[in-house]
Amino acid sequence: MNAHRFGDDEVRGVYRAIYERRDVRSAFLSDPIPAPMLRRLLDAAHHAPSVGFMQPARFIVVRDPALRAQIHANFERADSAAAALYQDERAALYRRLKLAAIMDAPVNVCVLCENDTPRGAGLGRASMPETSLYSTVCAVQNLWLAARAEGLGIGWVSILDPAQVRATLAIPDTATLVAYLCLGYVSAFADEPDLQRQGWEFRAPLEEVVFAERFGLREYNAAPDGSS
Ligand SMILES: Cc1cc2nc3c(=O)[nH]c(=O)nc-3n(C[C@H](O)[C@H](O)[C@H](O)COP(=O)(O)O)c2cc1C
Repeated sequence: MNAHRFGDDEVRGVYRAIYERRDVRSAFLSDPIPAPMLRRLLDAAHHAPSVGFMQPARFIVVRDPALRAQIHANFERADSAAAALYQDERAALYRRLKLAAIMDAPVNVCVLCENDTPRGAGLGRASMPETSLYSTVCAVQNLWLAARAEGLGIGWVSILDPAQVRATLAIPDTATLVAYLCLGYVSAFADEPDLQRQGWEFRAPLEEVVFAERFGLREYNAAPDGSS
């Protein structure tokens, strides 16, 4: 008996949020997000772990259609440049993918890592300074899971020229751009990643990614039916 375990329904809820979270691009609705809900989600993000309790994540809530149009134009340029890197069938498939929903979602959230903060007094960063970025990514994941639990979708857009995003949103030099997120209600959550459904990439089996004692030594054997 573990007195610290959540109730069965709560445990199921945590796993449900993890397995049913999706990167959403095609299914956004324009309905506004209630202000208390948005605040709850951002507060959940702000409660992520951070190195030395540095709390480096900063969030810019972007609603203004004119600013979003600038970011969308940035995406379209970066997307065309990225498409040109592929040939033949991959290029054709890339062009069929919808990889952002900047104008479809009612709210965008730009997530930054503020490096210039005295909080945490450098604890944990002397030998691994990049842990401030990892801390910020933890905040993104909190936001993503909390949004899923609230029935909201998030799409992460990395196909952007960061210098142009910085100029559009007046991001200071002390902050690193970590994530640009589209957030909103959705008509549906797909039951598998879009990129898997469209044949771009598939989830690797668990036994391929978990090792025992030394890198490369398998912890798990492949299941006889190939599932994991
Ligand atoms: C760091 C990061 C950047 C991403 N950038 C993009 C992007 O620019 N466009 C996009 O459509 N999806 C983007 N994604 C979403 C991934 O494609 C998606 O997470 C992956 O295909 C698995 O699908 P799922 O999130 O629905 O499980 C990004 C995800 C991460 C974690």
